[in-house]
Amino acid sequence: MEVVIRPNAGAAADLVAQVIARAMRSNPQLVMGLATGNTMESVYARLVQLHGEEGLDFSACRTFNLDEYVGLPGDHANSYRHYMNRHLFMHVNIQLRNTHLPDGMAADLVAECANYERLIAGNGGIDLQLLGIGQNGHLGFNEPLSALRSRTRVKVLSPVTRAQNAPLFPEPDLVPQRAITMGVGSILDCRRCVLLATGEEKAAIVAKAVEGPITSMISATALQLHPECTLILDEAAGSKLKESEYYHWVFENQPEWEPFRAGPLLVTKNGFQTGHPPEKKTVEAMSDISE
Ligand code: GLP
Repeated sequence: MEVVIRPNAGAAADLVAQVIARAMRSNPQLVMGLATGNTMESVYARLVQLHGEEGLDFSACRTFNLDEYVGLPGDHANSYRHYMNRHLFMHVNIQLRNTHLPDGMAADLVAECANYERLIAGNGGIDLQLLGIGQNGHLGFNEPLSALRSRTRVKVLSPVTRAQNAPLFPEPDLVPQRAITMGVGSILDCRRCVLLATGEEKAAIVAKAVEGPITSMISATALQLHPECTLILDEAAGSKLKESEYYHWVFENQPEWEPFRAGPLLVTKNGFQTGHPPEKKTVEAMSDISE
């Protein structure tokens, strides 16, 4: 696991989008695992911007979302299908037939879960899984006591999760009680995981997920078992980490982060930073100019 701490939420979301964009450019048929939630909205907005301004091409990529509420049809304003269409799919050149979410309206939910696993495997597995984290440390809807080897299945939502998601519904009681979610084991099978968390309210759970013991009470702790997992945080979400100095040092010094370090200069109206600072002139180049 590695942790990257960026100065603010915009820079953290921008870095996640840049990591995704780089993976898409090196493999246009990338199989992406997608997440929902407020935190992800900035990532999708940035990807839409990269599509518009730099031609980031979604035409051959395939996507699988982590979860969907049971009982909400795809055209329901609170379904995750609706969220994905609204925040990403409608604004880029993705083929809708290549976008997948579990069907929360399926007559046979057990068969739907098995089918979802088969579909992921049939597409060669997930190359890059984007993750958020719930207040209780869930990934997707892997609520406390989710088995660390669990696969896609129906999970009953905890009161904490229902309360956290209630503001998005017209009334708290309308938050569904169950959801289909990829399991912790399904997530650990993805080739790379990138988790984004921002804001002070995530600081305590992030510290437990990163530096605490692995426990099925907090499914995000299972990411410690994943060989290629990056957590991208803003300063607020990383504020309770004991080893933050070390995490900063790795990002600032390790070559794999070099392409992502060049600090963007411009801040656009939606808060995203774009463009790169003028290249620092090397001593050689400077002497060329003076000659
Ligand atoms: C929901 C999703 C999770 C997501 C979480 C975080 O519960 N099922 O996948 O990580 O929301 O949401 P937010 O970004 O709004 O804090």
